[in-house]
Amino acid sequence: MTNRRMGPPALIYLPHIESTNDFLSSLLAKSEPKPGTAITAEFQASGKGRFGKKWHSEPGMNLLLSVLLTPDFLKAREVFYLNMLLSVTVCRVLEKRLPAFSEQISVKWPNDILVDRKKICGLLIQNGFAGDKIQTTIAGLGLNVNQTQFEPFPGGLQPVSMSIIAGKNFDTRDLLFEVIHTLFQNLNEARKNRAVFRTRYLSLLRGGQSGLRFQSRAESKLKMSGKVVDIQDDGRALIDDGQFKKWISIDDWKMLVS
Ligand code: BTN
Repeated sequence: MTNRRMGPPALIYLPHIESTNDFLSSLLAKSEPKPGTAITAEFQASGKGRFGKKWHSEPGMNLLLSVLLTPDFLKAREVFYLNMLLSVTVCRVLEKRLPAFSEQISVKWPNDILVDRKKICGLLIQNGFAGDKIQTTIAGLGLNVNQTQFEPFPGGLQPVSMSIIAGKNFDTRDLLFEVIHTLFQNLNEARKNRAVFRTRYLSLLRGGQSGLRFQSRAESKLKMSGKVVDIQDDGRALIDDGQFKKWISIDDWKMLVS
């Protein structure tokens, strides 16, 4: 690596782009952007969600952000830790900005952020590996800020925005700086004390840790419920149904919201 770590990272603002994650990914392919480089856009023509879904966002209404991270304190198999860290980061910002609703802020495993059981933010984390190391992470997030009309989300989750919740508009630029600042602060904290974010993430899992329901991805009739009593940095969750405990993986199971 050259002098990639020197100097401040860039914040790149784009009025119109296909996808901020894709933009950062192609920047990485052809140059050496500094860790912390952030891309934000007013509008994405092909915003990407998880599992090949699209992420729609009205122009200028919401926060669309991708940040380049180099989480060298994590091994490749601990990559899920970043989902926890980013989820807790967004929840912290929401708790500050929507203090009257902080009890209703939660996480749907692995990383949908909900307020009042409706989806307010989605995360798309894309990693590049070198052996057992995470070389680069593109941490993408779409936070619904001032949009008030939405297409229904596939999968039954209803969308919501900060403006719908609070009954007022928010400055997306302020939120941009707050999310980036909180993310860097949390990354520094995580280097010293990883457990803090795992514990906080566990407490944010929807349902106050009880009565969560899960569905097998391979066999939709196969369901289980219980509370999540532990979570690993590789993303496996330990479910306690009152009788037995079972480790499940996000590749095989999804969490249901009712
Ligand atoms: C999901 O919930 O499925 C994840 C949605 C992630 C959307 C954000 S918006 C900014 C960044 N660029 C993208 O193309 N996707 C992420």
